[in-house]
Amino acid sequence: MRVLALETSCDETSAAVVHRDGDRVTLEGLVILSQDIHKLFGGVVPELASRAHLETVGPVTDDALRQAGATLATIDGIAVTHGPGLQGALLVGVMWAKTVAWRESLPLLGVHHLEGHLFAPVLEDPTVRPPFTALLVSGGHTMLLDVPAWGEYRLLGATLDDAAGESFDKVGSLIGLDYPAGAAIEALAATGDPRRFTFPRPLLKHPAEKDRWNFSFSGLKTAVLRAVQQSGDLEADRAALARGFQDAAIEVLVAKTVDAAEQHQRELIVLGGGVACNRTLAAAMRAAVGAGGRVAVASPRLNTDNAAMIGAAGSWRLATGERHDLSLEASDSLPLPGLNPPTGVVR
Ligand code: KG4
Ligand code: ZN
Repeated sequence: MRVLALETSCDETSAAVVHRDGDRVTLEGLVILSQDIHKLFGGVVPELASRAHLETVGPVTDDALRQAGATLATIDGIAVTHGPGLQGALLVGVMWAKTVAWRESLPLLGVHHLEGHLFAPVLEDPTVRPPFTALLVSGGHTMLLDVPAWGEYRLLGATLDDAAGESFDKVGSLIGLDYPAGAAIEALAATGDPRRFTFPRPLLKHPAEKDRWNFSFSGLKTAVLRAVQQSGDLEADRAALARGFQDAAIEVLVAKTVDAAEQHQRELIVLGGGVACNRTLAAAMRAAVGAGGRVAVASPRLNTDNAAMIGAAGSWRLATGERHDLSLEASDSLPLPGLNPPTGVVR
């Protein structure tokens, strides 16, 4: 089955063509157009994002089809991110997908953005399949999941405040880096003195049982803010601040994920979302699981927002016979299908 996929939930306009044969998903074409305009504002401006998607969704789709050597006549289904994300941005992709599905009489499927992130490693490694423990870390979400089967997601923990990626971005702005700052913090941290700043590891040592797999990043960010305010020479301290922050964030993410995997006797850990681009995180996770376990993480292009992961997830659901009709809606607060408990933080 060959699927055309679209992703417009935030500030990337992306289209992909994937081919699924059983568990094997082959990426045939992928275009990711990042909207640079938001850099000027230090964050994504929703109205500008929607307008940019509207201008580029057509050419980006055409380009992905061209790369794949495909035409709409050779496509078997359409998958599109229908939430969560920016409402106006989502609407552009959903309307586009509905129109093409209607005109070509193709099956349509709305995909949850985070389910896309979960499927990303499958595009490069067909042996990645449940059961596994998943850490989803993006600009908007931080979730620890037990995944006994595709489509069954047991929520073990989530963030009580800021998302992991959000904390990288906020710390980045404190030390004068452009948005989004995750990659720049990682690069800066590599040269920073790990002993200069020691920041708190929230909810790590002896948390209440209900918080065993929950996260909190706002206190860590405030600790960095205080260190920035007290620094006599921010320019000289930037790398060490980035290092101190990243070491703290990674230690918590790794310890809780490995603990959850051990508790559920899962040998495989899947990392997904933009923060999974962080090679220091993946390396620390691999070191912590040791020889008995395996850590699957997609390459950076497939971990930040892209349509290939939406095609991987959507083609799995389409192959099971699932369909949406033309009443499919975009929803900025869509719950992950199959999530148990359904929403929010584990308490
Ligand atoms: O998944 P994503 O592309 O968009 C959302 O769905 O939110 O994630 C974007 C987030 C941003 O917060 C960005 O700073 C972070 O991923 N990020 C990183 C790295 N690369 C991107 N965080 C830490 N280290 C990185 N190398
Ligand atoms: Zn994302």
